[in-house]
Order: sequence, then C-alpha cells, then structure tokens
Amino acid sequence: MAVGNVRRITDRVYLVGAIDWNRRLFDELIPLPEGTSYNSYLIEGSESSALVDAVDPTKTEELLVNLRGLGVEKIDYVVSNHAEQDHSGAIPAVLNEYPGAKVVTNRRCKEQLMELLLIPEERFIVVEDGGELSLGDRTLRFILAPWVHWPETMLTYLVEDRVLFTCDLFGSHLATSDLFARDRSGVYRAAKRYYAEIMMPFRKAIRGHLNKLEDLEIKTIAPSHGPIYDEPGFILDAYREWVSDEVKAEVVVAYVSMHGSTQAMVDRLIAGLLRDNRTVKPFNLTVTDVGELAMALVDAAGIVLATPTVLGGAHPSAVYAAYLVNALRPKLRFASLIVSYGWGGRAVEQLKGMLTNLRIELLDPVVVKGYPKEGDLEAVDRLAEEVSSRVGRSEGP
Ligand code: FEO
Repeated sequence: MAVGNVRRITDRVYLVGAIDWNRRLFDELIPLPEGTSYNSYLIEGSESSALVDAVDPTKTEELLVNLRGLGVEKIDYVVSNHAEQDHSGAIPAVLNEYPGAKVVTNRRCKEQLMELLLIPEERFIVVEDGGELSLGDRTLRFILAPWVHWPETMLTYLVEDRVLFTCDLFGSHLATSDLFARDRSGVYRAAKRYYAEIMMPFRKAIRGHLNKLEDLEIKTIAPSHGPIYDEPGFILDAYREWVSDEVKAEVVVAYVSMHGSTQAMVDRLIAGLLRDNRTVKPFNLTVTDVGELAMALVDAAGIVLATPTVLGGAHPSAVYAAYLVNALRPKLRFASLIVSYGWGGRAVEQLKGMLTNLRIELLDPVVVKGYPKEGDLEAVDRLAEEVSSRVGRSEGP
C-alpha cells in the first residue's frame, strides 16, 4: 500500500511525485549511488489544474495516492515535458483516474507517447514553442528544448510564479528529504554526475537553451529528478561552466591491467605527472563507478587509456571505456594510449577507431611487449612530458 507524500512549493504548486530511495541502476546502465526521485508537480489555477510530468511506472500508486490525498477531483491537463518512461510511465494511469484530462505536449513528444505508452491521439493537445495555456489566474508557457534529454524534450514555465519546470535538465539523481537544494556541495556533485551521464553529449544544444533562458525571469527551477532550486543561479552557473569550451588542467587515466605490465606503465605515467604537479585522476576500470569516470571527463583536458591485449584487441573494460568516452563527447583536447601485449594484436587501431566522435589530438601511443623494460618506461616518461605540457596549456593565468 503506497503512502502519500505531498510537499507544497508555492501557494499553487505542489510536489506530488515520488522519492525512489532504493533504486541503484537507471536504464540498466547508470549507477545511482544515492537513489533518485521522479518529481511530478500539480499546479492549481483558478479555473483549471495541470499536472506537470508524472512518475516512473513503479511509483504510479504513490502519485495517485498523493493526488487523492490532496483531494484532487479533476485534472484538466497533464503536461508532458519528456516522453521517457521515468516521467511518462504513470500518465496512462492518471488519464484513467481523471478521464477528462488531456495530455499537453509538443508534436514530437506526442508521437513518442503514442508509440511508447499507446495513449490514444484524442487525448492530446499539441503546443508549439512559446505557446501558452491558461489555467485561469495562472499561465503555462511552453519552451521547446530538444535534446535534454531526447529530441522531444521541452520546458514549461509558470508565468505568474516564475517557476521553470525542466524535467531532466538541471536534475540530479538524488533521493533526499530536502525539498530545496540546501546541501550545496552534495547537490552540486549529484547534479554534475547527472550532467556527465545524461546531458554531456548534448552540451552544444544546452548552450543554446541557456542562451534562450537568459531573458526569462526565473525564481525557481523545478526539475523532475532531485531537489528544487529556489536560488537558481547556483545550478545555472554550474551548467554554464560545464557546457563551456573551457577545460581544466586535469588528465584522466583510465586503465585495466591483467598481470601488472600495464599497471607498471600507468604508475610511471602518474609519477611523471605528479612530478610536474599535474592534476591526475586515475580510474581502475575493473572497480570504478562509470559515473565517477564520466564526472572527471566533464572538465578534463585529456585522457590516457591504458590496456593489455586480450584475444587480439583491447581488454573489454577498456573497450567499454572507449565506447563511453566517444558516446559522451567530453570536451577533451587530447588523448593517448598505453598498450601492453604478449605476441601481437590491434588494440591501438581498435581504440583509435572507437574515438571518432572526438575531434582531439592523438598523442603517439606507448606500445610495449611483455613487462616494460627501462627503455619502455622512458617512453612512458616522454608521454608524461607530452601530456604535462598539453595540460599546462589549459592552466589559467
Ligand atoms: Fe529522467 Fe530522460 O528521463
């Protein structure tokens, strides 16, 4: 039996979603060390009411209990900012409970919702960019914002209260009893992890959206994951930094070693970088949380990927890391490889061929047969010098 949990945000806006304290994996891919929430918002106008986004299907009953607990007898509109099921999955149940409700969304999102949730066409009202919907003494304005996180995403602005409902954008996978972002450092980390895992590939699109929001007076940002920002400058500034072209003087070393040869070279590389007082972030791919690796990639100037050779190619953990780096499209300036092998293989060609999304300088790799000898380690030293000099160019004045 679901227990309700309604929180009031303004005199007309209620948080009626659900906190998922125990979820530890999203999309069967992304680790959620701190759980998450699916924020759904009820807005009461003088004439009509709207629900902004719903919840994950697993939390449908909690949403309905919250609405019943508030005594909501009628919902006129269900605004869908994003068709992904963690926000839309409960919409069919809401439409069933409130038969007069219409789904308000853009054309692309409508198509997705019809495909994914089999919602019939007659239940939709389609809105355009900048379109408005009156709830009586309250007005909703819709701002199309593709690619945060799918192509159909949009934002909804509650004009009179100056609340911007952003769904995934500015969100954080964070289960917390804090209604508002008060633990700044904790929320910053969770929001950065979220950006790294979900938003980073769409950095340039987000930059455009941030420009579009410049003219909007925003008092509150209400995302659909994690706490609400009643001081929105905090998250807007963080996003401006993350999506900028600026990198930090940091290098990521992502590696896996089977019998110690690759490890010996990685140790030597790190020692060389530390000698130059460089910031280096090593990740042993056999134990690392990919979210931590993704976070490091938000700012890093470069990456060195180090792997042994397995069955003629890179170790599968290194292949996974290369795939991830390529897919996340971080603003790296350079990359290099360290490869260890026993009798042959094509790990260098394989990994290079996997980084085609990145327009970066590829420094000469260090490729070593067997355990590294002194000459091999000197080659690693030279790579460390190359890396150090490039990282140095990213340092501020
Ligand atoms: Fe939170 Fe893209 O869904």
